[in-house]
Amino acid sequence: MHREIADGVYYVGVDDHHTKLFENLWALPHGVSYNSYLIIDEKVTLIETVKEPWAEEWLDNIREIIDPAKIDYIVLNHMEPDHTGALPHIAEIAKNATMIYTSKAAPMQKSFYDVDLEDKTVEDLEELSIGKRTLKFVHAPFLHWPETMVTYLVEDEIVFSCDAFGSFGALNGKHFDDEIDMRMIEKESRRYISAIITSYLRFVQRAIKKVKELGIGIKMIAPSHGPIYRKDPMWVINHYDQWSSDELDKHVTIVYGSMYGFNQRVALLLKKELIELGLEVRIHNLSYTEMSQVIVDSVRAGVLVVGTPTYDAHPFPRVWNFVNEVCGKRFPKRPIFLFGNYGWGGGGVRKLKAQLEDSRYEVMEPVLKVKARPTDEDKMQIKKLAKVIMGQLPN
Ligand code: FEO
Repeated sequence: MHREIADGVYYVGVDDHHTKLFENLWALPHGVSYNSYLIIDEKVTLIETVKEPWAEEWLDNIREIIDPAKIDYIVLNHMEPDHTGALPHIAEIAKNATMIYTSKAAPMQKSFYDVDLEDKTVEDLEELSIGKRTLKFVHAPFLHWPETMVTYLVEDEIVFSCDAFGSFGALNGKHFDDEIDMRMIEKESRRYISAIITSYLRFVQRAIKKVKELGIGIKMIAPSHGPIYRKDPMWVINHYDQWSSDELDKHVTIVYGSMYGFNQRVALLLKKELIELGLEVRIHNLSYTEMSQVIVDSVRAGVLVVGTPTYDAHPFPRVWNFVNEVCGKRFPKRPIFLFGNYGWGGGGVRKLKAQLEDSRYEVMEPVLKVKARPTDEDKMQIKKLAKVIMGQLPN
């Protein structure tokens, strides 16, 4: 199914209700869309392809409008296979097409697919006439790979932003922000940016600044996942701006693991003390909350508290996994507190501390270590810890 989104500009993307984990990591309770666009002008231009298993459905969408053999340009803003997996399929049909991408994308194309098409690498802000219309290519490195760019359709003032301003959630025929359930999109785009782009938040800020400085008109933002913003393109720009800002929120997030409930008891006692001090608290048991939601609630927490039992003399695996995400996704620096629970020997919390400090996070004192069931003395220490945490929250 295709849809005309502006005069001669068509949505030809697909919904994916099959994939359960995006990147085989992140839950997709509402599915996801792979957006692709077709511009009919003197030169027929395709913006992005789709993930490989959806190639046939996507080609059918294009065939509803034009014979795909007539495509002249294939613009590849980003080489990740959810947007390029179907490239070999279109290359078999549109044999005279030219691929357009940044110079960093060219070797990726070669190593991923090595399709036998002409290509053209474009410089930052380079323009290309496709007839009555002009494409302007704006390099946007590390959104979220090194080769990424966005493509601006000058006369129609449409930004094809690829992953930037994207969202999880299939479209189900509701392609625009004024048609889809924006409460779902607000949650799913926040989870999307947190899971996919957290490592590169400063590049989001840089790209937003660059677009603002270009002073271009924006009638529509057409990303490669999620809805097209025509009613209020600033909604998604402002939300991305806010979510990628370095500014920390004024809440405490407690993230913990627990095998038999002893460590959970510590977590809940701490939560109670913090609430009694009037603080806003978010809390997640890592065995049960999906990781992207944990990241949403922790990436900008003013204070992060991580609690682990000792498991085989190491941190509880799911807690260690979370701390790997903190370090790997380069969470903004902020005070981090640790607590640990053990049955006979320690080790879990010590290894977490070492890993965080190795990544230059400041682990605050005291680090609480509780042997199984918290005693009255432990409860006093938890009360004291809550007061120390309160003193570390941003004003
Ligand atoms: Fe949607 Fe980075 O690919």
